[in-house]
Amino acid sequence: MKIDFQETTDDLAKRIDIHSRFGSRDIDEWMLEILKLQPGIKILDVGCGSGKQCFSYYHHSNGQVEITGTDVSESLLAEARNKNQAINNAVDFRFLDFNQAFDLPENNYDLISACFAIYYAQDIPFTLKEMHRLLVPGGRLFTTGPMPTNKKVFYDIIKEATGKEIPPMPGSSRYASQIYGTMQELFAKTEQHIFENPLTFDTVEPFMVYTRASMSEDRKLWNSLFQTHEEFEAVMTAIEKVAHKFIERDSRIVMTKVVGGFIATK
Ligand SMILES: C[S@@+](CC[C@H](N)C(=O)[O-])C[C@H]1O[C@@H](n2cnc3c(N)ncnc32)[C@H](O)[C@@H]1O
Repeated sequence: MKIDFQETTDDLAKRIDIHSRFGSRDIDEWMLEILKLQPGIKILDVGCGSGKQCFSYYHHSNGQVEITGTDVSESLLAEARNKNQAINNAVDFRFLDFNQAFDLPENNYDLISACFAIYYAQDIPFTLKEMHRLLVPGGRLFTTGPMPTNKKVFYDIIKEATGKEIPPMPGSSRYASQIYGTMQELFAKTEQHIFENPLTFDTVEPFMVYTRASMSEDRKLWNSLFQTHEEFEAVMTAIEKVAHKFIERDSRIVMTKVVGGFIATK
């Protein structure tokens, strides 16, 4: 399955910023709580983007873990390397396309993580097998992704504004259909955790910043709703109108992120 998808540094940074300013919980704290990192372990982060999880691992463990962060996007890696200077380049950031065989040592990592990334893989079983191959026996794979009930109000507003169906989102649709099942087949043990984080918007402006960064033309996930820049802007105007209506009616928009965390042990 080819997922025509591209993440830009700017869009990802905007969404991360909105989560931290308008959310009531911190997803990194949740992740660290369920992962319980032991000092001295080797971690590989796949689809690391600008390094959000890598830096959390580093700070939480006071630098007592060995971290490799990998991504296919050179611009996101450049951003990650830039931030890495503040911690003396403690994280090893490298290019890795998870649709290709992983050119990294096998039976080597105690923890492999792929946060909000695995569902963009062309061939999920292939990518998960590569991760399994690189883990030490007893090593853990941690993946996160949106669940089907994720940010329902966001999709309700888009549906009302456009009168169209929401295109299948690779995250929520592929976890249920393929990712979790394949993890269960390949690994000795799997467990599921759920994280819920309500984002509260009292005004339309930050909601629209999030919407633009989420539906961004660059990401190509929403082509069934718009093709040209003019169509994109028309959709944004329609969404803004509906968002105003929701805020006038309810005095705020509460968009709850519902994220699954899946831990599989080799
Ligand atoms: C939504 S971002 C998440 C980034 C980061 N883990 C975070 O939570 O901030 C998805 C990431 O997957 C990466 N990605 C997409 N396709 C990839 C591929 N074929 N190989 C490696 N990374 C890929 C993107 O470049 C992007 O950094």
